[in-house]
Amino acid sequence: MIGFFDSGLGGLTVLKEAVKLLPQYSYIYLGDNARTPYGDLDQETIYEYTVEGISALFHRGAELVILACNTSSSVALRRIQQEFLPHVYPERSRRVLGIIIPTAEEIGRITRSREVGVLATQATVNSLAYTKEIAKVFPEVKTYEAACPMLVPMIEDGESESLEINDLIQIYMNELLVQSFNIDTIILGCTHFALIEGQIKRQLPYGVRAVSQGPIIARKLEDYLARHSEIENKLEKKGERIFLSTENS
Ligand code: DGL
Repeated sequence: MIGFFDSGLGGLTVLKEAVKLLPQYSYIYLGDNARTPYGDLDQETIYEYTVEGISALFHRGAELVILACNTSSSVALRRIQQEFLPHVYPERSRRVLGIIIPTAEEIGRITRSREVGVLATQATVNSLAYTKEIAKVFPEVKTYEAACPMLVPMIEDGESESLEINDLIQIYMNELLVQSFNIDTIILGCTHFALIEGQIKRQLPYGVRAVSQGPIIARKLEDYLARHSEIENKLEKKGERIFLSTENS
């Protein structure tokens, strides 16, 4: 199966797009809702929780796990690929992919002003992963980041439609856009934010667009599977979907 992991509900927005584009595969999703949000945790804890999550998915039959969580991708992915996987699966039978580099690779094709904003969790912003990865692919693109610490807990608590969330979006968006008047593209760099994409888009100034990751990651997954037949051949094509949560599912 193809595994998807997130700290909670956000990764579902990525899975949904993968299922739309590649319905033939079987998918298993795990949301660590009991311990969300990850964005305010220290790096070691994010790493440990992410390793526990992907291990659970491997044990249930995932061959490949997508970290559908920017916080895990920015803080834990490199260490998982360099230390955890070679140690636990020395025969390279399991893969873990993140979502920051694929997003960075696409964003330079979208921005015209060559200035990009990122709304993300505190841990993702602290890591500067977007600034670094975008600079590697598009050195001329300037990246500005703003942390949105309150949004994930509110979305997990079902407060996506509340007035408070709209006020917070405005505050965070101002913190980002005040850094440069030239930003024309904002990456919703936390998969939970795709769940409030409508509210975010309503508050965008004219000429600025918000980009959520689901469709980008789905296309990148399709490319990846086309290039890695050794993995693709092992994947079940029964169209099954399994959803797991560490909390009340
Ligand atoms: N969906 C996660 C992300 O993309 C949310 C992280 C959190 O739990 O704070 O970053």
